[in-house]
Amino acid sequence: MKTIYPIAVIPGDGIGGEVITEGIKCLNALSDVHGGLLFEFTMFPWGSDYFLKNGVMMPEDGLTILKDFQAVYLGAVGDPRVPDDVTLHGLLLPIKMGFDLYAGLRPVYLHEGVSSVLAGMSPGDIDIVVIRENTEGEYSNVGGIVGHADQTLAVQSSVFTRKGIKRIIEYAFEYARNHGRKKVTSLTKSNAQRYGMVLWDQLFREVSSQYTDIRRESKLIDAACMDAVRNPGNYDVIVASNLFADILSDLTAGITGGMGLAPGGSFNPSDKTVPGLFDPVHGSAPDIAGKGLANPIAAILTAKMMLDFLGEFQTADILYQAVKQQLAEKKIRTGDLGGDAGSYEVGDDIVKILQAVK
Ligand code: NAD
Ligand code: IPM
Ligand code: MN
Repeated sequence: MKTIYPIAVIPGDGIGGEVITEGIKCLNALSDVHGGLLFEFTMFPWGSDYFLKNGVMMPEDGLTILKDFQAVYLGAVGDPRVPDDVTLHGLLLPIKMGFDLYAGLRPVYLHEGVSSVLAGMSPGDIDIVVIRENTEGEYSNVGGIVGHADQTLAVQSSVFTRKGIKRIIEYAFEYARNHGRKKVTSLTKSNAQRYGMVLWDQLFREVSSQYTDIRRESKLIDAACMDAVRNPGNYDVIVASNLFADILSDLTAGITGGMGLAPGGSFNPSDKTVPGLFDPVHGSAPDIAGKGLANPIAAILTAKMMLDFLGEFQTADILYQAVKQQLAEKKIRTGDLGGDAGSYEVGDDIVKILQAVK
Protein backbone atom coordinates (compact mmCIF):
# COMPACT_ATOMS: atom_id res chain seq x y z
CA MET A 1 0.00 0.00 0.00
CA LYS A 2 1.37 3.35 -1.02
CA THR A 3 0.62 6.59 0.78
CA ILE A 4 -0.76 8.97 -1.81
CA TYR A 5 -0.50 12.74 -1.46
CA PRO A 6 -2.67 14.83 -3.77
CA ILE A 7 -0.77 18.05 -4.50
CA ALA A 8 -2.10 21.03 -6.45
CA VAL A 9 0.63 22.62 -8.55
CA ILE A 10 0.41 26.24 -9.69
CA PRO A 11 3.61 27.04 -11.63
CA GLY A 12 2.38 30.64 -12.11
CA ASP A 13 4.48 33.24 -13.89
CA GLY A 14 8.05 33.91 -15.01
CA ILE A 15 10.58 31.51 -13.49
CA GLY A 16 7.77 29.86 -11.49
CA GLY A 17 7.35 26.98 -13.94
CA GLU A 18 11.10 26.57 -14.41
CA VAL A 19 11.81 26.06 -10.71
CA ILE A 20 8.68 24.05 -9.90
CA THR A 21 9.58 21.54 -12.65
CA GLU A 22 12.83 20.82 -10.80
CA GLY A 23 11.02 20.51 -7.46
CA ILE A 24 8.60 17.98 -8.94
CA LYS A 25 11.52 16.07 -10.44
CA CYS A 26 13.05 15.75 -6.97
CA LEU A 27 9.74 14.72 -5.37
CA ASN A 28 9.25 12.01 -8.01
CA ALA A 29 12.82 10.80 -7.44
CA LEU A 30 12.13 10.62 -3.70
CA SER A 31 9.01 8.64 -4.40
CA ASP A 32 11.10 6.11 -6.40
CA VAL A 33 13.70 5.86 -3.64
CA HIS A 34 11.09 5.45 -0.93
CA GLY A 35 8.80 3.00 -2.67
CA GLY A 36 5.83 3.65 -0.39
CA LEU A 37 5.11 7.25 -1.32
CA LEU A 38 3.28 8.66 -4.30
CA PHE A 39 2.69 12.29 -5.14
CA GLU A 40 -0.33 12.89 -7.31
CA PHE A 41 0.25 16.25 -8.97
CA THR A 42 -2.61 18.17 -10.53
CA MET A 43 -1.46 21.14 -12.58
CA PHE A 44 -3.40 24.40 -12.64
CA PRO A 45 -2.45 26.91 -15.37
CA TRP A 46 -3.53 29.87 -13.25
CA GLY A 47 -1.59 33.11 -13.36
CA SER A 48 -1.02 36.05 -15.66
CA ASP A 49 -1.42 34.22 -19.01
CA TYR A 50 -4.69 32.85 -17.67
CA PHE A 51 -5.66 36.40 -16.64
CA LEU A 52 -4.92 37.80 -20.09
CA LYS A 53 -7.21 35.14 -21.61
CA ASN A 54 -9.95 34.99 -18.99
CA GLY A 55 -9.82 38.27 -17.06
CA VAL A 56 -9.21 36.49 -13.75
CA MET A 57 -6.07 34.98 -12.20
CA MET A 58 -7.92 31.83 -11.16
CA PRO A 59 -11.49 30.61 -11.56
CA GLU A 60 -14.09 31.96 -9.19
CA ASP A 61 -14.26 28.60 -7.40
CA GLY A 62 -10.45 28.34 -7.25
CA LEU A 63 -10.31 27.92 -3.47
CA THR A 64 -13.05 25.27 -3.54
CA ILE A 65 -10.96 23.36 -6.07
CA LEU A 66 -7.77 23.70 -3.99
CA LYS A 67 -9.53 22.62 -0.78
CA ASP A 68 -9.47 19.00 -1.97
CA PHE A 69 -5.67 18.92 -1.93
CA GLN A 70 -3.34 18.47 1.02
CA ALA A 71 -0.91 21.07 -0.24
CA VAL A 72 -0.47 23.66 -2.95
CA TYR A 73 2.97 23.94 -4.55
CA LEU A 74 3.30 27.33 -6.23
CA GLY A 75 6.13 28.85 -8.28
CA ALA A 76 5.65 32.60 -8.41
CA VAL A 77 3.15 35.24 -9.47
CA GLY A 78 3.90 38.49 -11.27
CA ASP A 79 4.14 39.57 -14.88
CA PRO A 80 5.24 42.93 -16.31
CA ARG A 81 2.14 42.95 -18.58
CA VAL A 82 -0.30 43.08 -15.67
CA PRO A 83 -0.23 45.40 -12.62
CA ASP A 84 1.30 43.58 -9.65
CA ASP A 85 -1.52 44.40 -7.26
CA VAL A 86 -3.98 42.80 -9.70
CA THR A 87 -2.00 39.56 -10.07
CA LEU A 88 -1.09 39.15 -6.43
CA HIS A 89 -4.52 40.05 -5.09
CA GLY A 90 -5.97 37.71 -7.71
CA LEU A 91 -4.01 34.58 -6.85
CA LEU A 92 -1.36 34.37 -4.12
CA LEU A 93 -2.91 36.55 -1.44
CA PRO A 94 -6.48 35.15 -1.74
CA ILE A 95 -5.10 31.64 -1.14
CA LYS A 96 -3.30 32.73 2.04
CA MET A 97 -6.20 34.83 3.30
CA GLY A 98 -9.01 32.55 2.07
CA PHE A 99 -7.64 29.50 3.87
CA ASP A 100 -6.50 31.61 6.84
CA LEU A 101 -2.92 30.35 6.42
CA TYR A 102 -1.73 32.65 9.15
CA ALA A 103 1.72 31.20 9.73
CA GLY A 104 4.38 31.96 7.14
CA LEU A 105 7.65 30.11 7.69
CA ARG A 106 10.80 31.35 5.96
CA PRO A 107 13.96 29.66 7.19
CA VAL A 108 17.46 30.55 6.00
CA TYR A 109 20.76 28.84 6.71
CA LEU A 110 24.26 29.60 5.50
CA HIS A 111 25.12 26.28 3.87
CA GLU A 112 28.54 24.80 3.29
CA GLY A 113 29.61 25.72 -0.24
CA VAL A 114 27.74 29.02 -0.22
CA SER A 115 29.50 32.25 0.57
CA SER A 116 27.68 35.06 2.29
CA VAL A 117 27.94 38.64 1.12
CA LEU A 118 28.95 39.30 4.73
CA ALA A 119 32.63 38.89 5.50
CA GLY A 120 33.91 36.24 7.88
CA MET A 121 30.81 34.01 7.89
CA SER A 122 31.22 30.23 8.11
CA PRO A 123 28.59 27.56 7.37
CA GLY A 124 25.94 27.55 10.06
CA ASP A 125 26.83 31.03 11.34
CA ILE A 126 23.49 32.27 9.99
CA ASP A 127 20.51 30.13 10.94
CA ILE A 128 17.32 32.18 11.16
CA VAL A 129 13.64 31.33 10.88
CA VAL A 130 11.42 34.26 10.00
CA ILE A 131 7.82 33.68 11.05
CA ARG A 132 5.44 35.93 9.20
CA GLU A 133 1.87 36.89 10.08
CA ASN A 134 0.10 36.23 6.78
CA THR A 135 -3.50 37.29 7.08
CA GLU A 136 -3.81 40.84 8.40
CA GLY A 137 -1.61 43.81 9.35
CA GLU A 138 -0.41 45.97 6.50
CA TYR A 139 -1.88 43.55 3.89
CA SER A 140 -5.48 44.06 5.00
CA ASN A 141 -7.47 45.21 2.04
CA VAL A 142 -8.79 48.32 3.75
CA GLY A 143 -8.60 51.67 2.05
CA GLY A 144 -9.09 53.25 -1.30
CA ILE A 145 -8.10 55.98 -3.70
CA VAL A 146 -10.44 58.94 -4.13
CA GLY A 147 -10.31 62.19 -6.05
CA HIS A 148 -8.15 62.90 -9.06
CA ALA A 149 -5.16 64.88 -10.23
CA ASP A 150 -3.72 67.05 -7.43
CA GLN A 151 -6.67 66.16 -5.23
CA THR A 152 -5.98 62.43 -5.26
CA LEU A 153 -6.01 60.87 -1.83
CA ALA A 154 -5.15 57.30 -0.89
CA VAL A 155 -5.85 55.61 2.41
CA GLN A 156 -4.14 52.32 3.22
CA SER A 157 -5.10 51.00 6.61
CA SER A 158 -3.44 48.24 8.60
CA VAL A 159 -5.63 45.98 10.68
CA PHE A 160 -4.21 44.30 13.76
CA THR A 161 -6.42 42.10 15.89
CA ARG A 162 -5.67 40.65 19.30
CA LYS A 163 -6.50 37.19 17.94
CA GLY A 164 -4.30 37.60 14.86
CA ILE A 165 -1.28 38.87 16.76
CA LYS A 166 -1.57 36.45 19.67
CA ARG A 167 -1.81 33.32 17.53
CA ILE A 168 1.27 34.12 15.44
CA ILE A 169 3.38 35.00 18.49
CA GLU A 170 2.22 31.83 20.24
CA TYR A 171 3.09 29.85 17.11
CA ALA A 172 6.59 31.41 17.08
CA PHE A 173 7.23 30.34 20.68
CA GLU A 174 5.80 26.86 20.10
CA TYR A 175 7.97 26.56 16.99
CA ALA A 176 11.04 27.62 18.98
CA ARG A 177 10.27 25.12 21.74
CA ASN A 178 9.59 22.22 19.36
CA HIS A 179 12.69 22.88 17.26
CA GLY A 180 15.23 23.36 20.06
CA ARG A 181 15.56 27.05 19.36
CA LYS A 182 16.60 29.40 22.11
CA LYS A 183 15.26 32.83 21.31
CA VAL A 184 12.34 34.65 19.70
CA THR A 185 12.80 38.23 18.48
CA SER A 186 9.74 40.33 17.75
CA LEU A 187 10.06 43.23 15.32
CA THR A 188 7.75 46.23 15.23
CA LYS A 189 7.77 49.95 14.70
CA SER A 190 5.80 50.92 17.75
CA ASN A 191 7.61 54.21 18.19
CA ALA A 192 5.86 55.55 15.09
CA GLN A 193 2.93 53.20 14.48
CA ARG A 194 1.21 53.77 17.74
CA TYR A 195 -1.85 51.51 17.59
CA GLY A 196 -1.40 48.16 15.89
CA MET A 197 2.29 47.88 16.69
CA VAL A 198 1.80 48.95 20.30
CA LEU A 199 -0.81 46.21 20.66
CA TRP A 200 1.67 43.78 19.07
CA ASP A 201 4.43 44.70 21.59
CA GLN A 202 1.98 44.33 24.47
CA LEU A 203 0.92 40.86 23.30
CA PHE A 204 4.54 39.86 22.75
CA ARG A 205 5.25 40.64 26.42
CA GLU A 206 2.10 38.80 27.49
CA VAL A 207 2.67 35.65 25.42
CA SER A 208 6.43 35.46 26.01
CA SER A 209 5.88 35.42 29.76
CA GLN A 210 4.33 31.95 29.25
CA TYR A 211 7.55 30.66 27.66
CA THR A 212 10.24 31.27 30.25
CA ASP A 213 12.46 28.59 28.65
CA ILE A 214 12.87 30.72 25.51
CA ARG A 215 14.73 34.03 25.51
CA ARG A 216 12.81 36.98 24.11
CA GLU A 217 13.79 40.23 22.52
CA SER A 218 11.66 43.04 21.16
CA LYS A 219 13.30 45.33 18.61
CA LEU A 220 12.44 48.09 16.18
CA ILE A 221 12.46 46.94 12.57
CA ASP A 222 14.87 49.62 11.31
CA ALA A 223 17.48 48.85 13.96
CA ALA A 224 16.97 45.12 13.41
CA CYS A 225 17.70 45.43 9.66
CA MET A 226 21.03 47.05 10.48
CA ASP A 227 21.79 44.59 13.26
CA ALA A 228 20.84 41.49 11.21
CA VAL A 229 23.48 42.50 8.67
CA ARG A 230 26.17 43.33 11.22
CA ASN A 231 25.43 40.58 13.69
CA PRO A 232 23.20 37.86 12.16
CA GLY A 233 24.17 35.40 14.90
CA ASN A 234 21.97 37.44 17.25
CA TYR A 235 18.86 36.09 15.48
CA ASP A 236 17.23 32.71 15.88
CA VAL A 237 13.42 32.83 15.45
CA ILE A 238 12.00 36.17 14.33
CA VAL A 239 8.29 36.95 14.45
CA ALA A 240 6.86 39.97 12.68
CA SER A 241 3.88 41.44 10.89
CA ASN A 242 2.98 40.69 7.29
CA LEU A 243 4.98 43.51 5.72
CA PHE A 244 7.95 43.62 8.07
CA ALA A 245 8.52 39.87 7.83
CA ASP A 246 8.16 40.08 4.05
CA ILE A 247 10.91 42.66 3.82
CA LEU A 248 13.10 40.97 6.38
CA SER A 249 12.86 37.61 4.62
CA ASP A 250 14.46 39.10 1.50
CA LEU A 251 17.19 40.53 3.72
CA THR A 252 17.85 37.19 5.45
CA ALA A 253 17.85 35.49 2.02
CA GLY A 254 20.32 38.13 0.81
CA ILE A 255 22.89 37.32 3.48
CA THR A 256 22.66 33.53 3.01
CA GLY A 257 23.23 33.19 -0.74
CA GLY A 258 20.31 35.08 -2.25
CA MET A 259 16.76 34.54 -3.45
CA GLY A 260 17.69 31.35 -5.25
CA LEU A 261 18.10 29.50 -1.96
CA ALA A 262 15.26 30.81 0.23
CA PRO A 263 12.23 28.54 0.74
CA GLY A 264 8.85 29.32 2.23
CA GLY A 265 5.62 27.78 3.40
CA SER A 266 2.30 29.02 4.75
CA PHE A 267 -0.22 27.03 6.72
CA ASN A 268 -2.84 27.15 9.43
CA PRO A 269 -1.36 25.43 12.49
CA SER A 270 -4.78 25.09 14.12
CA ASP A 271 -6.82 23.87 11.15
CA LYS A 272 -5.45 20.76 9.48
CA THR A 273 -8.39 20.56 7.05
CA VAL A 274 -7.04 23.31 4.82
CA PRO A 275 -4.12 22.81 2.44
CA GLY A 276 -0.76 24.41 3.13
CA LEU A 277 0.72 26.72 0.49
CA PHE A 278 4.34 26.22 -0.42
CA ASP A 279 6.15 28.83 -2.51
CA PRO A 280 9.71 30.06 -2.48
CA VAL A 281 10.37 33.55 -1.10
CA HIS A 282 11.47 34.83 -4.50
CA GLY A 283 9.20 36.22 -7.19
CA SER A 284 8.80 35.55 -10.90
CA ALA A 285 12.17 37.20 -11.71
CA PRO A 286 11.19 38.67 -15.11
CA ASP A 287 14.84 39.66 -15.68
CA ILE A 288 15.90 36.00 -16.06
CA ALA A 289 12.59 34.30 -16.89
CA GLY A 290 12.35 31.95 -19.87
CA LYS A 291 16.12 31.39 -20.03
CA GLY A 292 16.49 28.36 -17.77
CA LEU A 293 18.88 30.29 -15.54
CA ALA A 294 16.91 30.38 -12.28
CA ASN A 295 18.28 28.59 -9.28
CA PRO A 296 15.71 25.88 -8.48
CA ILE A 297 17.07 25.18 -4.98
CA ALA A 298 14.68 27.62 -3.25
CA ALA A 299 11.78 25.71 -4.84
CA ILE A 300 13.35 22.34 -3.99
CA LEU A 301 13.83 23.35 -0.35
CA THR A 302 10.23 24.57 -0.45
CA ALA A 303 9.23 21.03 -1.50
CA LYS A 304 11.19 19.81 1.53
CA MET A 305 9.08 22.08 3.74
CA MET A 306 5.95 20.69 2.09
CA LEU A 307 7.09 17.17 3.05
CA ASP A 308 7.52 18.30 6.66
CA PHE A 309 4.01 19.73 6.55
CA LEU A 310 2.70 16.37 5.27
CA GLY A 311 4.44 14.65 8.20
CA GLU A 312 7.02 12.94 5.96
CA PHE A 313 9.93 14.05 8.10
CA GLN A 314 12.38 11.32 7.11
CA THR A 315 11.80 11.82 3.40
CA ALA A 316 12.07 15.57 3.90
CA ASP A 317 15.44 15.05 5.55
CA ILE A 318 16.70 12.87 2.69
CA LEU A 319 15.90 15.72 0.30
CA TYR A 320 17.47 18.27 2.63
CA GLN A 321 20.70 16.28 2.91
CA ALA A 322 20.83 15.88 -0.88
CA VAL A 323 20.53 19.65 -1.37
CA LYS A 324 23.19 20.26 1.29
CA GLN A 325 25.53 17.81 -0.42
CA GLN A 326 24.88 19.35 -3.84
CA LEU A 327 25.71 22.83 -2.50
CA ALA A 328 28.80 21.63 -0.64
CA GLU A 329 30.18 19.97 -3.79
CA LYS A 330 30.22 23.38 -5.55
CA LYS A 331 30.25 21.72 -8.97
CA ILE A 332 26.97 22.36 -10.76
CA ARG A 333 25.46 25.72 -9.89
CA THR A 334 23.44 28.50 -11.44
CA GLY A 335 24.68 32.02 -12.17
CA ASP A 336 23.50 33.51 -8.88
CA LEU A 337 26.00 31.22 -7.10
CA GLY A 338 28.79 31.96 -9.57
CA GLY A 339 28.25 28.98 -11.88
CA ASP A 340 26.99 28.59 -15.43
CA ALA A 341 24.62 25.64 -15.12
CA GLY A 342 20.96 25.74 -16.10
CA SER A 343 18.08 25.16 -13.69
CA TYR A 344 17.53 21.63 -15.00
CA GLU A 345 21.19 20.66 -14.52
CA VAL A 346 20.98 21.54 -10.83
CA GLY A 347 17.72 19.58 -10.56
CA ASP A 348 19.28 16.59 -12.35
CA ASP A 349 22.30 16.70 -10.05
CA ILE A 350 20.12 16.59 -6.93
CA VAL A 351 18.12 13.70 -8.43
CA LYS A 352 21.42 11.86 -9.03
CA ILE A 353 22.33 12.28 -5.36
CA LEU A 354 18.86 11.07 -4.33
CA GLN A 355 19.15 8.00 -6.54
CA ALA A 356 22.46 7.11 -4.88
CA VAL A 357 20.59 6.87 -1.54
CA LYS A 358 18.82 3.70 -2.76
P1 NAD B 1 12.23 38.59 -7.50
O1 NAD B 1 12.39 37.77 -6.28
O2 NAD B 1 11.42 38.00 -8.59
O3 NAD B 1 13.67 38.95 -8.11
C1 NAD B 1 14.62 39.71 -7.39
C2 NAD B 1 16.03 39.40 -7.94
O4 NAD B 1 16.40 38.09 -7.53
C3 NAD B 1 16.09 39.40 -9.47
O5 NAD B 1 17.34 39.92 -9.88
C4 NAD B 1 15.98 37.95 -9.84
O6 NAD B 1 16.60 37.60 -11.06
C5 NAD B 1 16.69 37.27 -8.66
N1 NAD B 1 16.11 35.93 -8.41
C6 NAD B 1 14.90 35.65 -7.89
N2 NAD B 1 14.71 34.33 -7.83
C7 NAD B 1 15.81 33.76 -8.31
C8 NAD B 1 16.22 32.41 -8.53
N3 NAD B 1 15.43 31.37 -8.20
N4 NAD B 1 17.44 32.17 -9.07
C9 NAD B 1 18.26 33.19 -9.40
N5 NAD B 1 17.93 34.50 -9.23
C10 NAD B 1 16.72 34.77 -8.69
O7 NAD B 1 11.63 39.98 -7.05
P2 NAD B 1 11.06 41.21 -7.93
O8 NAD B 1 11.92 41.39 -9.13
O9 NAD B 1 10.89 42.30 -6.98
O10 NAD B 1 9.62 40.74 -8.37
C11 NAD B 1 9.31 40.22 -9.65
C12 NAD B 1 7.82 39.89 -9.69
O11 NAD B 1 7.52 38.84 -8.81
C13 NAD B 1 6.93 41.05 -9.31
O12 NAD B 1 5.79 40.97 -10.12
C14 NAD B 1 6.56 40.74 -7.86
O13 NAD B 1 5.35 41.30 -7.47
C15 NAD B 1 6.50 39.24 -7.88
N6 NAD B 1 6.74 38.52 -6.63
C16 NAD B 1 6.03 37.38 -6.45
C17 NAD B 1 6.29 36.57 -5.35
C18 NAD B 1 5.52 35.29 -5.20
O14 NAD B 1 4.77 34.93 -6.08
N7 NAD B 1 5.68 34.56 -4.12
C19 NAD B 1 7.30 36.92 -4.46
C20 NAD B 1 8.01 38.09 -4.68
C21 NAD B 1 7.74 38.89 -5.78
C1 IPM C 1 6.33 37.31 -1.03
C2 IPM C 1 5.92 38.38 -2.00
C3 IPM C 1 4.44 38.70 -1.88
C4 IPM C 1 4.12 39.12 -0.45
C5 IPM C 1 3.99 39.81 -2.85
C6 IPM C 1 4.39 39.49 -4.24
C7 IPM C 1 2.56 40.13 -2.71
O1 IPM C 1 6.72 39.51 -1.86
O2 IPM C 1 5.71 36.23 -1.03
O3 IPM C 1 7.30 37.52 -0.30
O4 IPM C 1 4.59 40.14 0.02
O5 IPM C 1 3.37 38.39 0.19
MN1 MN D 1 8.43 39.17 -0.57
